[in-house]
Amino acid sequence: MSDIAQHLAVSKKVEIEDLDWALARQVGLTQNEVKWLKHFVDVESQTVHYFLEVAKLQVSRDPEILTFLTMWNYEEYFHAYAVTRLLRECGVDVESATERAQKVRSSARVKAKVEDAVQQGMARLLPQSFTALWMTWGALQECLVAQAYESVGELTKNPVLAELFRRIAKQERRHFAYYYHQAKERLGQSTFTQKYVRFIVQKFFSPVGSGVKSDEDIADFMRTLLPGEELHTAMAYTDRKIGALPGMAGFTACRDYGNRIAPLPVGRPAPAAAHAAA
Ligand SMILES: [Fe+2]
Ligand SMILES: [Fe+2]
Repeated sequence: MSDIAQHLAVSKKVEIEDLDWALARQVGLTQNEVKWLKHFVDVESQTVHYFLEVAKLQVSRDPEILTFLTMWNYEEYFHAYAVTRLLRECGVDVESATERAQKVRSSARVKAKVEDAVQQGMARLLPQSFTALWMTWGALQECLVAQAYESVGELTKNPVLAELFRRIAKQERRHFAYYYHQAKERLGQSTFTQKYVRFIVQKFFSPVGSGVKSDEDIADFMRTLLPGEELHTAMAYTDRKIGALPGMAGFTACRDYGNRIAPLPVGRPAPAAAHAAA
């Protein structure tokens, strides 16, 4: 069965109606959990805006890619919706995921707009290499997001939050699998593409959300969510996965990022790496 057929067979919105909301309310959320959940909503709810940007690109008109993007966008929308529901059930006063998405987008950093423009230029100039880059970048981010959800699921004492995040993480792992297989196939077609992708990802990597969240917010999120050695373990795991793709051996961007943010006290921005644009 092809990658896309596998996704079509199992794609659905994350199930939440059977969750024990009374129990979720009774156990409640810690301050850190409220902070993390709001961050997840802000990042997840931006997927539709990202989708609108990539849908403009000629390379996304490939029928299979368009099918994946449609399912992916649908599933990500419900991640934001489900996390918002949990926050509200636990008494946290938050806007709907859609209202929040609009607000976050309207305050999007100039960086997000520049990224959109650069992306369009690269896609027009080198469509095949750009698609490989897009798939590699997607694999990397989905890998990190899945681990972030899994980490909350392990840290929390709220069984409903743990179950919801386990379900979301399962979908994130599936998104990762699609991007990863696509990246593998496309990187395998050209050594030029491998060099191009490696250069861009190694140089410009930052965790998802950097267009709409500050570097400080993202660093705080990563360090509190993945405390101590867990941050390095998650980063090394992601580097190993990406490093196993054609032409990506020895990939270190995630570990480099982890090493930059780990020593800082919470609340301080990550220093820019000598080579990093983020
Ligand atoms: Fe998601
Ligand atoms: Fe995802």
